[in-house]
Amino acid sequence: MYPELQKEISTYERRTPKSAAAHKRNLERIPLGVASNYRAYDPYPIFVKEGQGSHFRDLDGNDYIDHNLCFGALMAGHCHPAVMKAVQARLTTGTMFGMPHDMEWQLAEEIAQRFPVEMVRFGNSGTEATMHACRLARAATGRDKILKFEGCYHGLHDTALVSVKPHAPEFGDVHAPTAVPGGLGVPKSAVANVPIATFNDLDSVELRFKQNPGEIAAIILEPIMMNVGLCMPQPGFIQGLRDICDRNGALLIFDEVKTGAKLGWGGASEYFGVKPDMICLAKSIGGGLPLAAFGTHKAVMDLISQHKVFHGGTYNTNPVSMAAGLATFREVLTRENYAHVDKLSTKLSEGYRKTVAKTGLQAYIISAGANGALMLYPKEIRNYRDWVTVDTDLWRHYWFAMVNRGVMAQPYWWDEQWTISVQHTEADIDKHLAAFADVAPALAKAQQERTAEVAVHT
Ligand SMILES: Cc1ncc(COP(=O)(O)O)c(C=O)c1O
Repeated sequence: MYPELQKEISTYERRTPKSAAAHKRNLERIPLGVASNYRAYDPYPIFVKEGQGSHFRDLDGNDYIDHNLCFGALMAGHCHPAVMKAVQARLTTGTMFGMPHDMEWQLAEEIAQRFPVEMVRFGNSGTEATMHACRLARAATGRDKILKFEGCYHGLHDTALVSVKPHAPEFGDVHAPTAVPGGLGVPKSAVANVPIATFNDLDSVELRFKQNPGEIAAIILEPIMMNVGLCMPQPGFIQGLRDICDRNGALLIFDEVKTGAKLGWGGASEYFGVKPDMICLAKSIGGGLPLAAFGTHKAVMDLISQHKVFHGGTYNTNPVSMAAGLATFREVLTRENYAHVDKLSTKLSEGYRKTVAKTGLQAYIISAGANGALMLYPKEIRNYRDWVTVDTDLWRHYWFAMVNRGVMAQPYWWDEQWTISVQHTEADIDKHLAAFADVAPALAKAQQERTAEVAVHT
């Protein structure tokens, strides 16, 4: 660890002793001291006390502008008044029944108005949505294999946990990546059913269809890779996938858990002008409550209607989450709010670019809808293997230095990105940019020194 990074981490430790103590206590009973492995990082994660609007406070009372926003699940911002009002009204009229109610068709209708789907089923997490979408695709085609892209993340079920973050020795050929289980406990049979291709490489997709004739049920993808920072599909890539699916009788599944609400009014299908067969939604559609949905053609959903594919869940469409979802679609994800967030996004990206240019930091800024990221690379990344070349210490330097200045610029980990909520203000963006302007010269200096060191040793 180099001295400037060490200095920022020491400052972090000085500012957050209550988080350190709380983490130590958690470790006694909870693996890694956190409820999701993504929340664990060294020396210990910040423990949160409360949030409001675009800010949150930690246990020590430090205030942060929040661009983590629960890993992008809160485009509404914390405690959005419309969502809170809807939730509070429901809290006193019964929180769960396990019976149908009249908010279900209302929310299904809202979704069908924005996304090219005819029918919708609901769940509680992105993992559930992609799991049911994959099963439905298998049922609809009578095929077992789901093609996914190296580095794309679709949640925690067996089909999804393949080649999420493989390590270099396991990579295989970039045009025919090896399928690598994302940890122990993923059955070999699951891995064998997930052929892997490279994002932005249509030839690698064609190859998989050639190698598995009549066996691939669907391609699943994040239309924008948002588990490697932010990696855009190159022009023609998504349309190319649509064509390959059509030629091979496979379904195209857009995992829009991140892009669905945050990219714009109609999500990725509107943004890229390509219609998938299925869409998976979660995170920001719930306005802060657990809510997910998957939607597709009526002909595919008929498999559920005919009891051929099973879908259920005790917590599905619980009135509290559904009330939050309705308020989110109607009062948060509005055209005016998208315009507001777009304006802030342009201001933030342009401000970062100016500072990057001024300091000579080798990096670029990329943004789409409410999301964006400082990408510490000399040129735009196109796939997972480009992403792994990041200087992780330099990235940690950026993150801790921003946090020490009251800006959680994004969730911890260099595979994430910032989210701008509808409650962020111009003043928040000004403060964010001032913090970055303060931090960037040290980043540029550290980068130059580290590059020079590498040059000496090679
Ligand atoms: C693209 C994508 N799909 C699926 C998931 C899984 O969602 P959840 O954590 O709600 O299960 C995530 C979570 O980060 C995601 O980013």
